[in-house]
Amino acid sequence: MTISKRIEDIISRASFIRKMFEEGAQLKAQYGAENVYDFSLGNPNLPPPEKFNELLRDTVDSCGLGDHCYMPNTGYPMVCGSVAEYLAEEQQAPVTNKEVMMTCGASGALNVALKTILDPGDEVLTPAPCFVEYKFYADNHGGTLKTVATKPDFQLDLEALSEAINPKTKAVLINSPNNPTGQVYPEDDLVALGELLEKKGKEFKRTIYLISDEPYRKIVFDGVRVPSIFTSYKNSIIGTSYSKDISIPGERIGFVAVNPEASYKNDLIAGITVANRILGFVNAPALMQRVVACMQGMSVEISEYARKRDILCDGLAGMGYKFIKPAGTFYLFPRSPIPDDVEFANVLKDERVLVVPGSGFDGPGHFRIAFCVDDEVIKNSMPSFQKAIEKYK
Ligand SMILES: Cc1ncc(COP(=O)(O)O)c(C=O)c1O
Repeated sequence: MTISKRIEDIISRASFIRKMFEEGAQLKAQYGAENVYDFSLGNPNLPPPEKFNELLRDTVDSCGLGDHCYMPNTGYPMVCGSVAEYLAEEQQAPVTNKEVMMTCGASGALNVALKTILDPGDEVLTPAPCFVEYKFYADNHGGTLKTVATKPDFQLDLEALSEAINPKTKAVLINSPNNPTGQVYPEDDLVALGELLEKKGKEFKRTIYLISDEPYRKIVFDGVRVPSIFTSYKNSIIGTSYSKDISIPGERIGFVAVNPEASYKNDLIAGITVANRILGFVNAPALMQRVVACMQGMSVEISEYARKRDILCDGLAGMGYKFIKPAGTFYLFPRSPIPDDVEFANVLKDERVLVVPGSGFDGPGHFRIAFCVDDEVIKNSMPSFQKAIEKYK
C-alpha cells in the first residue's frame, strides 16, 4: 500500500459502514428497493421548508459581480450577524457576529474547533454511545477520543465523567439531542457538568472546553426544550448545522459559535478563523450563507418526525422490543434481543431490514434505526421486525 498507515487503519475501522452499504445495495438489486427497509442512514427525508426554494431562487437572481468571490474566512459579517441575533435569543447570551463563524456543516465546525484547541496527546471525552466520526475528528488534530459510559437511560453520568477527566483532558464533547440515542440532556445536568469542568480545570490548571454538537437541536418532540449551553458553562463552543433541521446536508452549511464569556475568546476566534482556512474549507459556501441568513429559527415540519417515531415505537413496543423513547432526533436505539448486536443486525438483514449495530457507536447490545424514511417503509417493515424477535422468544 502507498497510502498512510493511519488512513489504512481508518479505512479498515470504517469498513463495516461500507460493507453495510454494499450489502444493502445488493439486497435492493435482488428484491427491489421497495421490499428492502433501509433504516441505516441519517439522511433527512422531509423536504426543506418551501421558503428555502424561494430564497435560493431569489438569491441566485440577485447575485451580482463579486458575490461568488472569496470572503472573510469566518463568513459574510451580515450572515454571522443574523445567526448571532437568533443565537443570542436561543442561548440567552449576548452573542454578536464576532463570536459566530460560518462553516461547512457541523463536521466542519467540530473540526475547526478541535484543530484550534488540541495539542498532540490531548484527550477529548465524549459520553457513549456517540457519533461514529468523533474519534476520527479528534485524531485529525492530534487528539484522542475517550468515551465515557452514560447511565442506563443514556443520560450523562457525571460521576463517571468526573473520574475520567485527567490532566490530558482538553474538551468534553456532547451531542444533545443525541445520535444515536435520541435523548436530550436536562438543564440541571448541563449546569452540573459546567461546574465539574470549572472545578477540574482549576485542579489541573488548564481550560477544559465544553463542545456542544447540536445539529438536532430543533428536532425535539412533546414540548421538550434543549437547554442553553452558553449559560451552563463559560468555556463552551457550539458546533452545528442546518443539515438536519432544514434538510440540506448536501449543501454543507453550519456554524461554530464561541461563548461571549469564554476566557480566551479572542484566541479561540482567531484560531477557528485560521483553521477554517487551512483545513481547506477556506470559507463556508457563499450562496448557502446568504440563504440560511434569512431562515433563522425555521425548520422542517417536526411533527412529521414525531409521527414516524410514534408509528415505529408503538409497533416495536407491541412486539416486545425494549427502548427509551427518543425525545428528539430521528433515531431510535433499541436493545438488541441478544447480546451480540452485530448478529442481530444480520438477522434483521435476512428479513430485509437494514439497521446499524450499536457497537459502531460504542453502544454494544443495541442497534440504531434511522426513522427519517417514508411512513410506508416503517409500516411495511413491521412483519420483518416481528419475525426477527420471534427467533429469540
Ligand atoms: C451527531 C452528529 N454530529 C455531526 C454530524 C455532521 O453533520 P453535518 O452534515 O452538518 O456536517 C452528524 C451527521 O449525521 C451527526 O449525526
